[in-house]
Amino acid sequence: MAVERSIAKRANWSSGFAFIMATLGCAVGLGNIWRFPYVMGQNGGALFLLMYILLTIFICSIPLLCELLLGKQMRRGVIRSYEKINKKFGIFGWLCFITSIFIPCFYFVVGGWTVNYIWIYLTNNVPAGNQAEYFASFAAEPIVPLVMGIIFLLLCAAFPFRGVNKGIEQANNIIMPLFIVMLVFLAGTGLFLDNSIEGLKFMFAPDFSKFTFRTVLTALGQALFTLSVGMGCLVTYGSYLKKDSDIIKSSGLLILGNTIIAILAGIMIFPAVFSFNLEPSAGAGLVFITLPKVFAALPFGNIFGLMFFVLLFFAALTSGISLLEVSIAAILEKFKISRKLATVIMSSIILIFMLPTTWSFGPISNYKIFNMTFFEIMDFTASNILLPLNTLILCIVVGWILKPKMELLTNNVKFYNSFMFLLKFVVPPVLILLMLFGLNLV
Ligand code: PHE
Repeated sequence: MAVERSIAKRANWSSGFAFIMATLGCAVGLGNIWRFPYVMGQNGGALFLLMYILLTIFICSIPLLCELLLGKQMRRGVIRSYEKINKKFGIFGWLCFITSIFIPCFYFVVGGWTVNYIWIYLTNNVPAGNQAEYFASFAAEPIVPLVMGIIFLLLCAAFPFRGVNKGIEQANNIIMPLFIVMLVFLAGTGLFLDNSIEGLKFMFAPDFSKFTFRTVLTALGQALFTLSVGMGCLVTYGSYLKKDSDIIKSSGLLILGNTIIAILAGIMIFPAVFSFNLEPSAGAGLVFITLPKVFAALPFGNIFGLMFFVLLFFAALTSGISLLEVSIAAILEKFKISRKLATVIMSSIILIFMLPTTWSFGPISNYKIFNMTFFEIMDFTASNILLPLNTLILCIVVGWILKPKMELLTNNVKFYNSFMFLLKFVVPPVLILLMLFGLNLV
């Protein structure tokens, strides 16, 4: 009974600020700090940035608004929200639910690595020699990365466990402003290094020779992932909105904030990488291998290193919280269980899947399916198949079946008509293209 009452009486964000911090915390994550800078570097720098911004505004903002709209209107997690449109559509909610298990399985492993790096900087145990060797041997170890991953998982779970206001909202209200201050400080410091101008050129001077059709689709995929569109995070967070909240304004702020943070992350990383003559397109290793080399060469490097990994940890933590909240909110309503039990169940399921993803860097690195390790399979399936597929389904269901009333969104007829046009006729074909690209079919 108590459980049913608590579901009926849905939690609300206590202020607009809390909502913005929570959605920003959800969007800003490893995607901004680790992935965005190097993908931008590999895809023509400034040109990629321009494509990314245009695609975010004209394409990704549409499903982003749809997710918030669905959550705000239905006031339910992702499974029940779809079921409220049509009982049979619950399956689409379940697909989001599955995605919300797949992503943490690899995301939390990287989260665990950030915990490890905080630990080694804090205890002054930073390896003096070859960073690449250290990273490879650490990741291949069976126990330590797993323990770090579990610590990260428990830290993420602690907040949804405490509830929306006392847990999720408080965490984001404190962590996000702190994160922004640290980011601005580190990005500002980077600019004072010798040769930092080379890093800025790398980011902001377009290299048209690198422009291909792939660049556009890579930018689109990056935009969806970094805005956390496509697995119901924003449906879930939107469901805690008050009826009169202005979701257009919130979406605008979210997009702006997320983009500025990604650019600041680039400004924090590239001038430093260039001033020490290191490889800027190092890809996945950029953060865990290249940057420790920079810190080793800097005065007070250990302090900067510690700050950087705390920053990365904060980004991953607030996204991790939102990833967990999707599945927690979904099963708590669906099966009418308590929030605490739902948190324990979801964390345990994710933990089981984290075993093979963690070990795919060491003990089981030879087990491959389609030539991918378990970690790569989870990442590939979630990012290239499930996220675009869920987004496509969302646009079709909201645009063609739910047909949201104008009052829920805006009182501007022109805006509403353009929104509906993009939603029904432009975004779906673009997403289909993205999926074909993700499957290497284009
Ligand atoms: N947006 C997060 C990031 O950039 C990742 C994420 C994707 C989180 C999808 C939730 C849902 O790191």
